[in-house]
Amino acid sequence: MNEALSYFLKLDDAVIITDTEHRIIDVNAKYEEITGHRRNDIIGFQAGILKSGLTPKRTYEQMKEALNDSRAWSGVFVNRKRNKGLWHSNITITPIEIGQSLFFIGIFRDLGTITEGTYVSEKRITKIQNEILKVLALSCEIRDPFIEEHLLRVQTLTKKFLKTFNAANEMMLTEDYIQQVVNASIMHDIGKSGIPEGILYKPGKLTYYERSIIETHPLIGVDILNKISNELEDELFRQEIIVSKSIVEFHHEKWDGTGYPHQLKGDEIPFEAQVVSIVDVYDALTTRRAYKDAWTHEQAIDHLQQQRGVAFKAELVDLFVEAIDASA
Ligand SMILES: [Fe+2]
Repeated sequence: MNEALSYFLKLDDAVIITDTEHRIIDVNAKYEEITGHRRNDIIGFQAGILKSGLTPKRTYEQMKEALNDSRAWSGVFVNRKRNKGLWHSNITITPIEIGQSLFFIGIFRDLGTITEGTYVSEKRITKIQNEILKVLALSCEIRDPFIEEHLLRVQTLTKKFLKTFNAANEMMLTEDYIQQVVNASIMHDIGKSGIPEGILYKPGKLTYYERSIIETHPLIGVDILNKISNELEDELFRQEIIVSKSIVEFHHEKWDGTGYPHQLKGDEIPFEAQVVSIVDVYDALTTRRAYKDAWTHEQAIDHLQQQRGVAFKAELVDLFVEAIDASA
């Protein structure tokens, strides 16, 4: 062991030293104590053996980009201890040149033992966000006893639809975006909380005025989301709220410009709203409502196909049919 390197091992934080190929050169006593890995068992192996599979891929990409550029990098890793338990840590990796060789010195801070503030893992943040959005969506439509099943089906179908879309379009959508649309799809009708019950659940035909009142629900929904985002001012929710607003506001627009509330046409309608609109119509048709019986799957698909290029973008109807047939 190079003498200069041995100084790093005296630090009171867990330290790992690798070469530029990410092969483990050494770890210190603190590292052994926290992780349970003995230095003699891991020296010479790739640092990748410590991975848990739970650190987002982009974290490693950002790390490699910085290190290849000879820049230091900091981020959060979720690694596995020897006993298979998870270890959440903040690591700073610094490239250090000694003699003719370059080494990476990784210094870990264990996030499980921080004494001030709270560390919340990315996975847990996503879970909390989903739960909050779900509670919000359900409480806005609490008057409809079957709403929970409808909303969960919309989420499941939206996910299948987007995966099929992505497979057919060279994976142009990121996993993060897909998840945001799936999470936000549950919110599409929150504006119905502002519509009187007598109109919302009226069996039979609606009058012109009753229909006009129902058609305000996308804008009421946006209003609710604006109030939430003003209150929250939270970076964590910012992206989720943008996607949710788009779905809430535009899910009743139609491809031919005859929808509401803005009569947008074609691809003026945001993509995520076009997706949720098809899913929502399919699920509404195949579910029994106060004013109508449930349609069969075939009848609903038939209706969507008749609406190719009318209410919906033709290519999206085809992909939705493909997605739903694949899962049948
Ligand atoms: Fe709606």
